Amino acid sequence: MVSANRGTFSRLGFVLAAAGCAIGLGNIWKFPYRTYEHGGGTFVLVYLGAVILIGAPIMAAEILMGRRTQQSPVGAFLDLAKGITGGKLWSLVGWLGVAAGFMILSYYSVVAGWTVFYVGKCLSWSIGGFAPEQAAALETDFVQGFLQSGTMQISFHGLFMLATMGTVVLGVQAGIERVNKILMPILFIILTFMVIAACFAPGFGEAMSFLFHLGPVDASAILDGVGQAFFSLSLGMGAMITYGSYLSREDSIPRATVMVCGLDTLIALMASVVMFSIIFTVPVAERGDTFSDSAIILFTTLPRLFYGLPGGAIMSPVFYLLVVFAALTSTISLLEVVVAYFIDRLGWSRRKATSIVGAGIFALGVPSALSLGANETLSTMKPIEAAGAGFFSLFDYLATNWMLPVGGLLIAIFAGWFLKSHLTRDELEQGHGPLATPHRIWQWSLRVVVPAAIIWVIAAVIGGKTFT
Ligand code: PHE
Repeated sequence: MVSANRGTFSRLGFVLAAAGCAIGLGNIWKFPYRTYEHGGGTFVLVYLGAVILIGAPIMAAEILMGRRTQQSPVGAFLDLAKGITGGKLWSLVGWLGVAAGFMILSYYSVVAGWTVFYVGKCLSWSIGGFAPEQAAALETDFVQGFLQSGTMQISFHGLFMLATMGTVVLGVQAGIERVNKILMPILFIILTFMVIAACFAPGFGEAMSFLFHLGPVDASAILDGVGQAFFSLSLGMGAMITYGSYLSREDSIPRATVMVCGLDTLIALMASVVMFSIIFTVPVAERGDTFSDSAIILFTTLPRLFYGLPGGAIMSPVFYLLVVFAALTSTISLLEVVVAYFIDRLGWSRRKATSIVGAGIFALGVPSALSLGANETLSTMKPIEAAGAGFFSLFDYLATNWMLPVGGLLIAIFAGWFLKSHLTRDELEQGHGPLATPHRIWQWSLRVVVPAAIIWVIAAVIGGKTFT
């Protein structure tokens, strides 16, 4: 069942919304941390390779499937698999995507809640003053005061879900497109100013040579680069199928793909330049082992470093506001994938779908919110060794390490081998112009390069490598 009134993004609206979907905590929180972990430039290069060779072809495939069928993932697969071997089984891939969206949003919104809390905290520090004792107590306050408080965790998670639901309920144009059109330019502007400010920081030179200095490549950097590309570009779960279903037939899919991949990468790099310039400005003796825990960089180390710098009192709340915006435009897309399923397949109204699905995701997020110290059992459970301890880590592990790469692999195989060449070529050329050779290259990369790379990554995951 296709609802008559699906809504369509404007051309700029699509690029901003899809970039908003892609740009999120993955760019500002995960990417700099991973880059640091893998020694800088080498990881950046590997990541760029993964975006170009694996990410971009899958993104084009997802957008294409969405626009062709005007459906969210389950419907898109059902439609396109008609008369194809395996037939209805392919819709399971769509289902996997809806389930991944549900799961990822449940814990993503908990972390997003921390960013809201930090806007408030930084405002109060900037106005009331940031004393050295506060700097020293930051980590304890964060871990013991905030993370271990079930009430705080659930409240901020709930707040973020409400903001997400408040946008999605307004619909494709009045809600999603409008919020992205406002927040994304603000995000670019703030980040550009921060990059300019970072250029004058004493640590800028060191940050640049760190980010662009090449060292030897090791296998784990390649594996992490691929996992990061999936998460950061929002691939493998049908988010881009859903947004693609709102892309106008006048717009070019290749152009949109290049724009979204480019913007996502640019923001990750800009965020890294800012963070490393701040980090390298502070002498090693003072900053200590900055990256011992990924959650700690953004929420305990960074504010401390901010307040040690000139202009830090202004930059710090503005920076967290930027992270809130980035996270919100991603949570909107995650919720939309699930909501669109209920609207398209079950004929629910947007209001009904948003409230019921939103409430369900909020509820599923509660165990994650309580697994950061508030509840002993949830915080220490470890059913899968590689996932680490706690319900939160388990969900992140299952979604990032399994559901996205497997989803991406199946989407690549489906689009590369099962969709008719004339169909994919027609859709890629629609709104663009002739693309005979690029279409061939794209098709063969989905047939061979992408599956080979993902299977290699999955084999490595089975071998015990984790991506988080
Ligand atoms: N890409 C988002 C980020 O970088 C996360 C996300 C994953 C959003 C999958 C939608 C779908 O934060």
